[in-house]
Amino acid sequence: MKKITVNLKERSYPIYTGARLAGLGSELAKFKFSRRVLVVTNTTVKKLYFPVLRAGLEKAGFSVSVSAIADGERYKTLQTVNALYNECLRAGLDRRSPVIALGGGVVGDIAGFVAATYMRGLPFVQVPTTLLAMVDSSVGGKTGVDLPGGKNLVGAFHQPAFVWIDTSTLKTLPARQLINGLAEVIKYGIIGDADFFSLFEAKKLPSYEKMVEASCLSKAKVVEADEYERKGLREILNYGHTIGHAIETATGYRKYLHGEAVAIGMNAAAAIAASMGLLKDSERRRIENVIARAGLPVRFDKTIAAGKILSLMSRDKKVVDGKLRLVLPVKIGKVIVKAGVSPEVIKDVIGNK
Ligand SMILES: NC(=O)c1ccc[n+]([C@@H]2O[C@H](COP(=O)([O-])OP(=O)(O)OC[C@H]3O[C@@H](n4cnc5c(N)ncnc54)[C@H](O)[C@@H]3O)[C@@H](O)[C@H]2O)c1
Ligand SMILES: [Zn+2]
Repeated sequence: MKKITVNLKERSYPIYTGARLAGLGSELAKFKFSRRVLVVTNTTVKKLYFPVLRAGLEKAGFSVSVSAIADGERYKTLQTVNALYNECLRAGLDRRSPVIALGGGVVGDIAGFVAATYMRGLPFVQVPTTLLAMVDSSVGGKTGVDLPGGKNLVGAFHQPAFVWIDTSTLKTLPARQLINGLAEVIKYGIIGDADFFSLFEAKKLPSYEKMVEASCLSKAKVVEADEYERKGLREILNYGHTIGHAIETATGYRKYLHGEAVAIGMNAAAAIAASMGLLKDSERRRIENVIARAGLPVRFDKTIAAGKILSLMSRDKKVVDGKLRLVLPVKIGKVIVKAGVSPEVIKDVIGNK
């Protein structure tokens, strides 16, 4: 088991990689929390992994309640949060009762928001079971839900007490979901770690263990530098996301998984950087090759009009004072944030690729 610390003064916490679900109880017992815990999961993950988690928790002396929400992003709503508040009440949680999120990013985001707000905040533990959640959503403290008008519009920052990553749970994850998570893993290489990126160009892909470790280390560094996304530093994690979000919205969140849309977005942002003379074309090709080799899409969906993408991009949460800001790679391992990229350049890339 490896330990990566996210240094945030009194909110600092460890991420354990190479952990085992059965061992979570004995780790939790080291904290001064109440014995009563609530595990939030979904119907799919509950069947697979709740029994072993529960056994470990009970062995360590915890009294365990569980609440399984329906599976899917469309349940990441305030209605589900409301139902979970009632579960907290029914389970008899007090202000020191930990909420444990067992599942992918959807479960983590909802359970985290419940933990952030019920009784003004309960201790929270992340047990991610998708690659995306292991490398991204379980670290950093962003929690929240969607509104009918947009994704992740309601939320809170609430850092976990610790993150417990058992990569053996990935063996049941559908291939498409695994590849989806790879997009965010590759992103860390492009935005800040050229050596890690080059591992993806070798014959054999790095192990999931290695991917998770490197990704968590990278995300931890960014979060430490800009916990509340106020200094512009956390922004680099949005590489591929401004265009990616526009693609997701334009296709009604049905055609592409998040990582797939981000993959197209990362490739498009690299092409924009290259066409502006900020990135060598040879580096752009390396980016495209690694993304494609992972089994992710790289080409723009021709059925989506460039104008639609542009207008959706200008509605992005990250637009400040009406100026579109794009994260662009200048070489593998380094990105910059560029304000006011000309719409013509963007249109060209979207239209031609
Ligand atoms: N908070 C953050 O910083 C942050 C960052 C990135 C993404 N997110 C959020 O994360 C969510 C996406 O997360 P996701 O990609 O994990 O999707 P998800 O939670 O929907 O999980 C994907 C699918 O895999 C299933 N699953 C989970 N673990 C499994 C396992 N081990 N074996 C078999 N099936 C399993 C789930 O039931 C689900 O059907 C989005 O809502 C997104 O907004 C949050
Ligand atoms: Zn993402």
